[in-house]
Amino acid sequence: MRRLHPDVDLDVDVESSYDDERPAPSGRPYVLVNMVSSADGAVAVDGRTKAMSSPADASVFHLLRSIPDVILVGAQTVRAEHYGPPRVNDERQARRLARGQSAQPTIAVVTRSLQLDVSSPLFSQSRPIVICPTDVDVSELAEVADVVQDGEGDVDLTGALRQLRQRGVGLVLCEGGPTLNGDLARHGLIDELCLTVAPLLVGGDLGTGILGRARLPRTLPLELAQVLEEGGVLLCRYKAIANHELATATAVEAAETADGGARSAFHAAMAQLDMPMQIVTAADPVGGERGGCLVGFAAQCSIEPPRFMVWLSKKNHTLRIARRAEVLAVHFPTPDQLDVAERFGTRSGDDVDKLASERWHEGPQGVPILDDVPRWFAGRVTERLDSGDHVAFMLEPIDGSVGADDLPQLGFQAVKHLRPGHDA
Ligand SMILES: NC(=O)c1ccc[n+]([C@@H]2O[C@H](COP(=O)([O-])OP(=O)(O)OC[C@H]3O[C@@H](n4cnc5c(N)ncnc54)[C@H](OP(=O)(O)O)[C@@H]3O)[C@@H](O)[C@H]2O)c1
Repeated sequence: MRRLHPDVDLDVDVESSYDDERPAPSGRPYVLVNMVSSADGAVAVDGRTKAMSSPADASVFHLLRSIPDVILVGAQTVRAEHYGPPRVNDERQARRLARGQSAQPTIAVVTRSLQLDVSSPLFSQSRPIVICPTDVDVSELAEVADVVQDGEGDVDLTGALRQLRQRGVGLVLCEGGPTLNGDLARHGLIDELCLTVAPLLVGGDLGTGILGRARLPRTLPLELAQVLEEGGVLLCRYKAIANHELATATAVEAAETADGGARSAFHAAMAQLDMPMQIVTAADPVGGERGGCLVGFAAQCSIEPPRFMVWLSKKNHTLRIARRAEVLAVHFPTPDQLDVAERFGTRSGDDVDKLASERWHEGPQGVPILDDVPRWFAGRVTERLDSGDHVAFMLEPIDGSVGADDLPQLGFQAVKHLRPGHDA
């Protein structure tokens, strides 16, 4: 077998080609999907994958099976492909045991109907996991399988994976089929995709690709990690790089469906306004940590006494500092300070010290005041309110500078193309 990417190796060691760090993301196992497809995207010929397989694909299929704690599979694939227990060879079993895993991975079947042949070797020669919704009767299945229930009507795959993680599962290999893959993808649950492209055309219905007919609310970019080749068969390995955005878009879409589109009308209306943008800075009075971020939710909310409200995203690094700060500084950049806005809006304080590249001095309680933004005020935090995915800070002004009288204000329309350092 040859490696074509990321570098060329004409006699590659397949076994080590799939070694990788696969740390479990927060709250769920890492999910690796393995599929074979024809050059035109078909995933089965006459309902089975056999016609698309090859020695290269089969060897990677078995190698990948030796990696996970659990092999996840849709019930239709179990029925169509007559699934039995996994059979990892002795050498690979020894490696699994050395890594602290069980000798064989456990098969986990996702089903709503519970239409599974419990007399088949999968159930008589192993004890699989059955993943199903909470509103089905599992009393009979529970005798031959470990049952995980999550979601009503359909399995909530995010919840089911969370339950697997709580049982110590760190790595899941999903072997399809497309319906299950599509559901995983929609919820941002595919971390890695191993896709074998078989050199043949199959034809058939549109929508038979590896995600079936699943409709994603946005595309999911993939990074090509590796390509192996043997006899015209391409074995590609991709990493997903924006799962969280996809999961958020799916959740928003589900909420919009539930409320009949009122949310989308609201979001569309807000997106057309030109709300003033602010840069809010904060300093932790105890630890000394400082930070700042670009903010679009802010307004004066009282004339006498003077009060100003500013909202910070819960995903924001600056929020963590602001929760401890007694004083926040609010800066009002001008349209020609888009570069400053960009530095505070597109990077995360988790990764960089944004103030390191700015000219600033200490204001009240050590809050950073940006020297290049002439209009600003510092306000004592009088209240903090939870307001959904943001936290509101009520500020009582205690210091400030107006700058020139006629300074124009940077608005949302000028920054909406920026990609936030955090996604909300
Ligand atoms: N090319 C490849 O690499 C590859 C890999 C795997 C499969 N395949 C092929 O793909 C075909 C089967 O794929 P498929 O898309 O029809 O089916 P599938 O994804 O294997 O299984 C679908 C079934 O899984 C259960 N399921 C999936 N998501 C669920 C959820 N969220 N909640 C509850 N149940 C859920 C349901 O089971 P119940 O019906 O029991 O309720 C559903 O009918 C076969 O022809 C197989 O050969 C190809």
